[in-house]
Amino acid sequence: MSTLRDRLRAQLAECKMPGALEAVDDILRRIDAGELSAGPAMEALLGSHIALRNQRRLQTAMRCARLPSVKTLDDFDFTFQPSVKRDQLESLHTLQFLERKENVVFLGPPGVGKTHLAISLAVHAAERGRRVYYATLADLITWLEDAQQAGHLTRRLRTLVSPSLMVVDEIGYLPISRTGAQLFFQLMSRRYEHASTVLTSNKSFEEWGDVFGDEVMAAALIDRLVHHCHIVNIRGNSYRMREHRALASRLAPATPPAPPESTSRPRPPRRQEA
Ligand SMILES: Nc1ncnc2c1ncn2[C@@H]1O[C@H](COP(=O)(O)OP(=O)(O)OP(=O)(O)O)[C@@H](O)[C@H]1O
Ligand SMILES: [Mg+2]
Repeated sequence: MSTLRDRLRAQLAECKMPGALEAVDDILRRIDAGELSAGPAMEALLGSHIALRNQRRLQTAMRCARLPSVKTLDDFDFTFQPSVKRDQLESLHTLQFLERKENVVFLGPPGVGKTHLAISLAVHAAERGRRVYYATLADLITWLEDAQQAGHLTRRLRTLVSPSLMVVDEIGYLPISRTGAQLFFQLMSRRYEHASTVLTSNKSFEEWGDVFGDEVMAAALIDRLVHHCHIVNIRGNSYRMREHRALASRLAPATPPAPPESTSRPRPPRRQEA
């Protein structure tokens, strides 16, 4: 004859509750030992189920998001990078900007933590069940160009508009074709006031005309981006080079570009009328 333990295990398996199934033996043992009463035992069983379910959801979300690594705000050393205001970052991590469909732009030289902070926001959003997608600008453009050539650009644009948070990393490092720039502009126009985008760039907005090879389009892009936007200017040393201070200062630009003030609406490059 089957025992209560066996029947419980069979029921949990049938209900597809692997977290609870894993925990049930220990919970029964604690009941037998007088450590747990009925109420807390039920709570512990359901809690084990929910914890495993949430962990698996997060793993799937992270896989779909294509995040290159997991970074969190807790790992970020604010003392190393005093130009990053803890209050502003903590406030962004409340994710209210997602509700308001606002954007976040991290600007600054190499190694100062732009990608780290962008990923940290994405991880936080994924943990809260939001759909997230990460790509470098170069990868995103390749993906859009491939879709255009294969004749399903509209479908791909729709796919890329749907995540509540998209990270577009490394704007400014690799050259972009004119078609690529136009495709990116189309994507950002569709996401404008529809969903939040977090962007990182080593170039100030004034230089985006060169990055995108078109001053007029860059101005229109920046205009949409900064309309509802939090701007985080990071000015400081590369964390990667923290053990090589002398080399870092030799490599740093003599006069770093002066990007616009944080969270204020910067003036986009002057538009050229067509
Ligand atoms: N203040 C910091 N505290 C802890 N780790 C940091 C900090 N800043 C950067 N890092 C780490 O240093 C490495 C480089 O940072 P990150 O990739 O975010 O730089 P970046 O600004 O995106 O540079 P790039 O422009 O070259 O892409 C990462 O491993 C990141 O986690
Ligand atoms: Mg980076």
